[in-house]
Amino acid sequence: MQNYKKLSDLPDIKGQTLLMRADLNVPVREGEVTDFTRITRLKPTIDDLMARGANILILSHFGRPKGQENMELSLAFLAPVLSHSWGHEVGFKEQTTRITLLENTRFQAGEEANDMALAKEWANMGDIYVNDAFSVSHRAHASTEAIAHCLPTYAGHLMDQELRALNTALETPQKPVTALVGGAKISTKLDLLGNLINKVDYLVLGGGMANTFVCAQGYDVGKSLCEHDMLDTARSIMARAKDGNCTLVLPTDFVVGQYFKANTPHDTVHIKNVPSDTMALDIGAESIAHIKTIIDHSKTVVWNGPMGAFELEPFDHATVELARYVAHKTSSGELISVAGGGDTVAALAHAGIKDQLTYLSNAGGAFLEWLEGKELPGVKALTAYEASLPTFLAS
Ligand code: 3PG
Repeated sequence: MQNYKKLSDLPDIKGQTLLMRADLNVPVREGEVTDFTRITRLKPTIDDLMARGANILILSHFGRPKGQENMELSLAFLAPVLSHSWGHEVGFKEQTTRITLLENTRFQAGEEANDMALAKEWANMGDIYVNDAFSVSHRAHASTEAIAHCLPTYAGHLMDQELRALNTALETPQKPVTALVGGAKISTKLDLLGNLINKVDYLVLGGGMANTFVCAQGYDVGKSLCEHDMLDTARSIMARAKDGNCTLVLPTDFVVGQYFKANTPHDTVHIKNVPSDTMALDIGAESIAHIKTIIDHSKTVVWNGPMGAFELEPFDHATVELARYVAHKTSSGELISVAGGGDTVAALAHAGIKDQLTYLSNAGGAFLEWLEGKELPGVKALTAYEASLPTFLAS
């Protein structure tokens, strides 16, 4: 793991202005925030910087305005929400309070272009840059990458917590390590599967993508979601897993129904016997029992993607049952568990165990790119400023 600076390394910052990159790209319905996780997880950094007497300018994007001012995507509505949630007054745009939220960074064309001139404009407003936005660190943008070349840079508490949790799960894990990977398609998770094969002992596949693997083994999957043009790719992943000493675990039974609809009449069948007019909507009891024995063998579990159509009852069964099993093993100290990705967070929240894993990442795309083994530009840039200083100054 990179040797970045943390908030505990900060010098005396009383009276100084810190530019803090946050990810306030929160879900909103009819003007109301529907999930506060990203906001509440920033509170430790805010509290810490406030206690040290600093002023804070917050940089964040919201939605994808593509370099244009779009008042529907203004961050103005969030200032009172943040004040309430953090218990410190937060102003908007004008620096009249110690914490000021700046307007949506993506209103500026230079943001997504990672424009150095824009980064310098922001950097001139403060003394120190704090990045607390792991969930947007897969973007090389002016407020996540270029700015880190302009000011002394520190990882916020959330960034640090996230990096340490992810590192513990895949880079220096307690073995055996199992990855549970679900979701609809293998075509969107090829790099992820390729990377995990080299890192984990067991790769358990569920959800729609497992159908393609089952089909590649020569079974008829009926009307199931299946990427027929990816069968060779699935076979090559199976062969690579075998060569790399990674045990690939596929379902042996499915819960099948005729329609992609909640409570559609259903049946549990062996993968050999999927009726041609049905589709797999969940993995079956035998598969769940087998996955549980693998979890019993494991010391670390990394989870991304639901095991079935969890948004349709009762096809949430495997996801909920396995989520609760992982949570139980985590609570009893037998397992380190890390999960992330948009759908995964929703699925684990649905199972009621969101707070019972060792770490649940609130990142979507960044979590996936990390699982793919990619270097995240915002994380790499945490040490950019130090690296650019002559050695005698940096030490
Ligand atoms: C997210 O919600 O995953 C981050 O805020 C990144 O958003 P983006 O995909 O629009 O860059």
